[in-house]
Amino acid sequence: MFNNKVMKEFYTLSEAADYLGKSKQTLRRWDREGLLIASREPVSNYRIYKKEMLNQFVGDLFDRSVQDNETNYVPSNKPYSVLELFAGAGGLAIGLEKSGLNCIALNEIDKWACETLRMNRPHWNILEGDIKDFDFSSFKGKTDIVTGGFPCQAFSYAGKKLGLSDARGTLFYEFARVVDEVQPIVCVGENVRGLLSHDNGRTIQGMISILDEIGYNVVPVQILKAIHYRVPQKRERVFLVAIRKDVEVEYNYPAKYNRIYNLSDALKKGELFDSDVPESDGAKYPKYKKKVMEMVPPKGYWRDLPIDIQKEYMGGSYHLDGGKTGMARRIGWDEPCLTLTCSPAQKQTERCHPDETRPFTVREYARIQTFPDDWQFAGSIAQQYKQIGNAVPVNLGEEIGYSLIDFLNRYSSIINESQKSMTG
Ligand SMILES: C[S@@+](CC[C@H](N)C(=O)[O-])C[C@H]1O[C@@H](n2cnc3c(N)ncnc32)[C@H](O)[C@@H]1O
Repeated sequence: MFNNKVMKEFYTLSEAADYLGKSKQTLRRWDREGLLIASREPVSNYRIYKKEMLNQFVGDLFDRSVQDNETNYVPSNKPYSVLELFAGAGGLAIGLEKSGLNCIALNEIDKWACETLRMNRPHWNILEGDIKDFDFSSFKGKTDIVTGGFPCQAFSYAGKKLGLSDARGTLFYEFARVVDEVQPIVCVGENVRGLLSHDNGRTIQGMISILDEIGYNVVPVQILKAIHYRVPQKRERVFLVAIRKDVEVEYNYPAKYNRIYNLSDALKKGELFDSDVPESDGAKYPKYKKKVMEMVPPKGYWRDLPIDIQKEYMGGSYHLDGGKTGMARRIGWDEPCLTLTCSPAQKQTERCHPDETRPFTVREYARIQTFPDDWQFAGSIAQQYKQIGNAVPVNLGEEIGYSLIDFLNRYSSIINESQKSMTG
C-alpha cells in the first residue's frame, strides 16, 4: 500500500495515488468529498498534493491503533475549557468532561435536553434557547475549544469561494459566527457521514472555506467509527477540526482501539459496565409487528421471514432495489448494535432486542451510546429516545477529548518555552 519513495515538496495526482496505494479516481473523489483536499498547480490547474498533507494522511491510513491494555488517556498540563454548542442531552459534553476538559457553557434550544443537562449537572452553565439569540463574545480569551454538532443544511452559492456572510441563515453560520466571536485555539464540528456527500461535496467545501476566511485551518476531515473507540455500536461521525492559524501544532485524531465491543458488552456486566443494564421503560411493538418480528432470528432481517410474510410486511418496498437490511432487523448479542436513531421502532431502521421481541428500552439505548447508568433523561419516553439517539457516544467524546488535551498540552509547552526565552 505504501512504497518508500523519497519525499519531495509536492506530488502530482498520479504520484500521490502511487504513494498512497490508491487509484487516481479515488483521490479525485476524496478531493471532492473533502477527505484529502488537493492544491492546484497555478498554470495547469492540475491537482497537486503537499508533502505534509500526504504525510499526515499516510499516518491515518496506517491505522494508528492502541494495543490491548493501552489507552489514549493523557493528563492535561493545565485546565482547558470548552464551549459546547448544540449540546443535546450531553453525550459529547460528558465524554469531554470524562477526558478532563472543563465545560464552561453549553447552548441548546430543546427544553427537554436542557432539563436533562440541568438535572444531571446543576453546576453547568446551560444557555437555553436559539443559538441565534446569544452573543458569545464574553467567552473570548476564556475558551480553548468550541465544539458543536450543527445540523447540516445547504448553502446558496453565487459561484465563488464562500465567505461567512454567504452562509447566513444556516446553523453552520451560527457555529462559525461563535468561533469568530470567541477565537478558541481549536474548534470541532461534528456531523453525520452524509455531510461529505451533501450537495455533491460543496457543503463541506463551503464550510472549510468559511473557516479559512475566519482564520482557521481545517485538519483533513475524517470519519470516525464509534466501534473503534470503545462503543458497542456501528455509528459513524464526521469530525471537522479547525485550528487557529497562529497555532502551529499538529492535531492527531485519537488512535483506534483494537478491541471491538458488542451488544452483550453493552447490556451485560463486563468490561464496559460493572452491572447488567438497569430496568426501565421502553417502546412496544404493535401486535402485528410483534408477530412478524417473532419469526426473525438474532442477526436476521426481513429476508428470514417466509416469502408470503416478506411480501405482506414489506409492501411496496419488496420490489425496490437495495438490501433494505435495516428492515425487520433483530440484533445479535455477539455483534455491535447498528446505529441507533431518534426513535427505536422505525420500519427502515429496526433494531429488535436479541431474545425478547421488543425495541430496546431507554436504559438499553443509553448503554449502547455508552451513557453512564446514573445519567437521567428528562421528558416523555419519546423525548428521551430522541435525546439519546441524537448524541455523540460518550466514549467517543472521551477519546476526542484526549486528542484535544494532547494537542493543547503540546501547544501550551510551546507557549511556555517561548515565554521563557523572552524573559530569559
Ligand atoms: C445532533 S444533536 C447534538 C447532540 C449532542 N452533541 C450530544 O452529543 O448529545 C443537535 C442539537 O442541536 C440542537 N439545535 C438545533 N437547532 C438549534 C438552535 N437553533 N439553537 C440551539 N440548538 C439547536 C437540537 O435541539 C439538538 O439537540
